[in-house]
Amino acid sequence: MNIKLVKNFNKIYDAYVIPKFEGEVNVYDGLNDEEKMILEKLIEKKEFTGKIKTSINCEMMHKGKLVTIIYIGLGKREKLKPYDIIESFYKELKNLDGEILIETHGLEISQVVEAVHYAKYDFDKYKTDKKDKKEVNFEILVDEDTNDIFEGTVLAESVMLTRDLVNEPANVIYPESLANEVKTLGEKYNFEVEIFNEEKITELKMEAFLSVARAAEKRPKFIVMRYLGDPANPTEINGLVGKGLTYDTGGLSLKPSAGMSNMKTDMGGAATVIGTMCAISRMKVKKNIVTVVAACENSIGGNAYRPGDIIGTMAGKTIEVDNTDAEGRLTLIDAVHYIINHENVKEVIDVATLTGAVLVALGMTTTGVLANNDKMYKNLEKASETVGERVWRLPNFPEYKELYKSKIADLKNTGGRFGGSITAGMFIEEFVGETPWMHLDIAGTSSTDAPYGYYTYGGTGQIVRTLYNYYLKK
Ligand code: BES
Ligand code: MG
Ligand code: ZN
Repeated sequence: MNIKLVKNFNKIYDAYVIPKFEGEVNVYDGLNDEEKMILEKLIEKKEFTGKIKTSINCEMMHKGKLVTIIYIGLGKREKLKPYDIIESFYKELKNLDGEILIETHGLEISQVVEAVHYAKYDFDKYKTDKKDKKEVNFEILVDEDTNDIFEGTVLAESVMLTRDLVNEPANVIYPESLANEVKTLGEKYNFEVEIFNEEKITELKMEAFLSVARAAEKRPKFIVMRYLGDPANPTEINGLVGKGLTYDTGGLSLKPSAGMSNMKTDMGGAATVIGTMCAISRMKVKKNIVTVVAACENSIGGNAYRPGDIIGTMAGKTIEVDNTDAEGRLTLIDAVHYIINHENVKEVIDVATLTGAVLVALGMTTTGVLANNDKMYKNLEKASETVGERVWRLPNFPEYKELYKSKIADLKNTGGRFGGSITAGMFIEEFVGETPWMHLDIAGTSSTDAPYGYYTYGGTGQIVRTLYNYYLKK
C-alpha cells in the first residue's frame, strides 16, 4: 500500500473517491460535460444529498476505461467532526484496490491519511494463506503544499503499533520481548529506554509487583521510557503508567476458560502508553513525559502468591491479597509509587485493562476514568472529543474506601462485586498522595471481538490519540 499527496494528475485511476457535503456541489472536476450529466442524473435518481453515513458508488466509462466513482456523504460542512472523516472514508476505502484518487475539498488531510491506513490494516502475519491481497496505491489530491501526511501517518502508525502489540499472543510478547521491542522503538524514534531486571526491581522493594510475577517462568521487567521535549522546563515532567500483564491466568484464583482465553490482551495499557510515546516523540511534542510499565505474567505454580497472603509494597503499605486475579492494581501501585518518587513527575496517568466491571458499567465503547483533579479530567475529555474516543468519569467518593479495607492489613486488593471499577481505581489512588492523578480503565475499549467503526477484530489502539492530543494541548 502506498499513499502520496498530489497537486495535480494526468492518469486515469481505477476509482475516484469524492467527499460530498450537503448543500454543496462536489462533482469530480476531471469529467467532461456528458460524464458530468450522467453522474448528476444518477445522484438525482438515487436521491443522494450527501447526508452523513450515506454514499453512492457507481461505475462509468471515463476516457475509455471503466472506473468507479464513490461519493461519500459528510453532511453539512459546519457540522463535520474530524472523526467523521475517518469513519466515513474507512468504510469505502476498505474494499478498494488498484490506483485510487481521493479528492479532499478542504478536508483535514491528516484525517484522510489516517483513514487510508486503518482501511488497509489487517493483522494477518500468522495466516499462511494470506487473503488475495491486491496492490493498492492511494493518491490524495491537495490544493497546496502541506506536510499533513506526516501527522496522519505517525498517528495511524502509533495506533496500529498498539493494535499489533495487543494482538500478539503471550508466547511472542512476554516481559523480556516487550522490553526489547520498546528498546528498538526508543532507538528508532529517539526516546530513552531503561530496563530494570528482577534484581533491580527487588532492590527497589516492589514487593506487590514481584508477588504477581512470582510464579511465571517468564521473568518480570520494569520498563522506563523518557522523552524530554521541553528541556527548558526540566522539572515539568508528566508521568504515564501502563498495565503490562503479558498474560493474566488469574493466578491461584484461576479464571474460568472463557474468561482467560483473551488475556493476552492484558498488556493493553502498556501497548497504549508505548504507542503514545512513539507518537509524541516522532511529532516532537514540547513536553517532558516519562512512561513506565511493570511487565509480568500472572501465572500459577507452587511458587505463586496466594489468596490470603499479606504482602508489602514499594510505598511501605501492607496489602492482604483477597484475590490473585485482582493483580493489575498490585503491579500499578508500585509503578505509580516509583514514577512519583523516583522520576519526580508532576502528574500521573495510568492506563489499564483493569476490571471486567467497567464493561458492565459502560459497555465496550467507553473508557472509564477516575481522577483526583478536575482540570486533568476536563483536558482529557476535550482531547478525547477531538478524536471521537469516548471517556466517562466515575466517582471516587470517600465512602467507597470502606470496601477495600482489610481487617488485618492496611488494604485488601478487592472491593467486592459492586462498584468494582471504582474501588479498583481508588485502590491505586491510595498510592498517589497529593499528585494530580487520573486512571483510565480500558478493559472494554482496548480490544474488540467484533469489528465496529474503523476497528477490526482485536486491538483497537483507542486512547493513543486521546493522550497524544492531551499532551499536545495541555
Ligand atoms: N485483566 C482483568 C480485567 C479484564 C477483564 C480485562 C475482562 C479485560 C476483559 C483483571 O486483572 C481482573 O481479572 N479483574 C478482576 C478483578 C476482581 C477479581 C476483583 C475482574 O474484573 O473480575
Ligand atoms: Mg486479573
Ligand atoms: Zn488483569
